[in-house]
Amino acid sequence: MFERKRAEKENEKLQTQLRQAEKMEAVGTLAGGIAHDFNNLLQAIISSTQFILLDVDKGSSMYPKLRDILSVSERARELIQQLLFFSRKLETQTKKVNLNRMIEQTMVLLERTIPKMIEIRAHLDRELWPVNADPVQIEQILLNLGSNAADSMSDGGKFIIETKNIIVDEEFINSHFEANSGAHVLLTVSDTGHGMDQETIDHVFEPFFTTKEVGKGTGLGLASAYGIVKNHGGFMTCYSEVGQGTVFKIYLPASEQVTSEAEPSEKIKDMGGGETTGGTETLLLVDDEEAIRGMVSGLLERFGYTVLTASSAEQAVETYVNRSHEIDLVIMDIGMPGMGGHLGVKEIIQFDPKAKVIIASGYSINSQAQKTMEAGALGYVGKPYRLADLLDKIRTVFDR
Ligand SMILES: Nc1ncnc2c1ncn2[C@@H]1O[C@H](COP(=O)(O)OP(=O)(O)OP(=O)(O)O)[C@@H](O)[C@H]1O
Ligand SMILES: [Mg+2]
Repeated sequence: MFERKRAEKENEKLQTQLRQAEKMEAVGTLAGGIAHDFNNLLQAIISSTQFILLDVDKGSSMYPKLRDILSVSERARELIQQLLFFSRKLETQTKKVNLNRMIEQTMVLLERTIPKMIEIRAHLDRELWPVNADPVQIEQILLNLGSNAADSMSDGGKFIIETKNIIVDEEFINSHFEANSGAHVLLTVSDTGHGMDQETIDHVFEPFFTTKEVGKGTGLGLASAYGIVKNHGGFMTCYSEVGQGTVFKIYLPASEQVTSEAEPSEKIKDMGGGETTGGTETLLLVDDEEAIRGMVSGLLERFGYTVLTASSAEQAVETYVNRSHEIDLVIMDIGMPGMGGHLGVKEIIQFDPKAKVIIASGYSINSQAQKTMEAGALGYVGKPYRLADLLDKIRTVFDR
């Protein structure tokens, strides 16, 4: 009798988890669609503004207004980025990493941003298995969790990060619908803050769910963390008690060769300072958005390049075949109607194995961009890209 009751309870719990997962999936699709379109519009706004700025005198009264547009667009870009994380429509550039090292690096940032009366502690398993992860995205998770924890401890408290190896077994899967069996690295992030009631816990991972006052929170921190973890093949849980604190557990699958030494994670490149340089080569810019083609080609011409454009992959292949001796580099958008960027790149490389191609994409299902890189593209820029990023990438490809 008791056994049956327990089985029913367990079943109920799984049903709830299933409904929750389905809901998140649906919201993710919706958010991803919006984010993708906004991303392109934003690209046009940023490019146009940069374009005008090149002509406007620094002393002009228009100059600060234009800078404002750029900085607000930059914030919009960050928001969209979080939404894209959540909807898992963002490219991940994963590599084998030691999570501990990434935590240590991020802690330096956290120490600076989290108020002094909060004590930050780490208990890191020295024998931790490596994971395949995108360092930028993992840092994003830690920063989001850190800022939430700080918000929940306005009178001070402890913020604790722990890592350890665990094997997820059948029994665990029976009570955690989203779990996969096998070797995982468990990242536990906890705080001694004000905690959450059940109603809040039920919604924490939903995008735009926030209990913070207008202007304080957008409700995207945990949604993006959730999406990133799912995108890494892992899963994430939340446990909290009002007045006690909160515990987030993140399970990431361990990378296959669990013994060898992981690479140190790469430093995020500083996009701010460095000199951006142009060149005199001829580029073929492929994008189905007219506004992007116009603006980006205009900007690239300002930096000395000769720019040809194509509005589809089909047109790009045709242009390349006809003028391959002139074209030094192709910049190909991935998500385009018709044949699409992926096939376009493939055909160009088939025609000319020495062709230099950079792909531009902010959104692609099933790691399409990853496949295109494997097909022979030499570089990747995420959309919306800043002019400096694109110029850098172009130079890297030419100067390699
Ligand atoms: N560590 C925590 N302790 C207490 N409540 C939390 C904690 N983390 C999240 N929450 C609750 O979950 C809500 C959603 O968090 P989330 O990070 O997604 O959005 P936000 O912090 O409100 O806004 P944003 O992160 O976009 O600035 C928060 O508003 C808060 O109510
Ligand atoms: Mg937050």
